[in-house]
Amino acid sequence: MEIIAFVNNKGGVGKTTCSKLMAEYLSKTKSLRTLCIDFDPQCNFSHQYLHMEIDPAAPEGLMPPIHPDYDPSNPEDQDWDGRSSIAEIFYGQGVVPYPTYVPNLDIAPGHAEKLLAAESVRRSEVVEKVHKQLASFLNSSDVRAAYDAVVIDTAPSKGPLTISVMKASTHIIIPSVMEEQPVQGIYGMLQLWMQESLAREKNRPLQLVGILPNMFKQTRLHKDILTSLQDNSAIGKYVLPVKFSQRIVFAEVDAADSNPRSIFDFQEQHVAKSEAMEVCSYIAERIFA
Ligand SMILES: Nc1ncnc2c1ncn2[C@@H]1O[C@H](COP(=O)(O)OP(=O)(O)OP(=O)(O)O)[C@@H](O)[C@H]1O
Ligand SMILES: [Mg+2]
Repeated sequence: MEIIAFVNNKGGVGKTTCSKLMAEYLSKTKSLRTLCIDFDPQCNFSHQYLHMEIDPAAPEGLMPPIHPDYDPSNPEDQDWDGRSSIAEIFYGQGVVPYPTYVPNLDIAPGHAEKLLAAESVRRSEVVEKVHKQLASFLNSSDVRAAYDAVVIDTAPSKGPLTISVMKASTHIIIPSVMEEQPVQGIYGMLQLWMQESLAREKNRPLQLVGILPNMFKQTRLHKDILTSLQDNSAIGKYVLPVKFSQRIVFAEVDAADSNPRSIFDFQEQHVAKSEAMEVCSYIAERIFA
């Protein structure tokens, strides 16, 4: 089972968009049983596939809807409130992934309040209570038997949640817009990757697939920053040879009433679909070859 995470502590660079495209590519075109994990308290990834609800206990945050398998009349469900998020791993509870409208694609959604609580665990306890929890969930035999691939969307942070993802993943990808601020985020992530690589057992390396330029425009600014990254002796080798252009359809398919709802359901010759196929197949080849 390959565990692929999109990370960059700068916001709005396309972590969620790339997570969605990769997860749909793997499940729809490769027929891999794929689990999406939303590790961002903003819950944007979850919102793509579920009708997330406002949490009455924390009205600025979202929580998952009632699970379709929940049956309050079933004695086995008596101790369950019917909702399940990936944050249950921090509370010693089971995670029950939700099916989505995409075949082969399940999601363990976020829960704003519970994820934020994990992000603020005391320093003395954070390693045991947060850093190790996602790896231990994904190592469980149930999860390994149920899925071929896991795609994790992360928060724009370098905090305990992102560290937990670093410890759990087999592969990371750093999406970035070719502009000054987001590029700074690349350095922060490379630092976390190196730290984690040093701490890992040799037989379980954390592979950096690479830096993925996103929302690329044929402007002087984007071209110059991309060239300077490629020419950088330390990080040039990590810049992927594929990229996502700035295309309004990548944003439009996020709308709940979009038809089709997936780029991969567009006509074969559609330029956004061709680009998504090219980028995702390149990445999948690197991971699953
Ligand atoms: N290649 C693209 N072309 C056009 N729009 C894009 C592209 N990639 C992402 N977007 C849009 O840009 C916005 C930010 O993208 P996204 O939410 O994926 O970033 P993010 O890194 O997950 O943000 P955050 O850090 O807040 O979680 C979204 O509205 C998304 O639809
Ligand atoms: Mg996001």
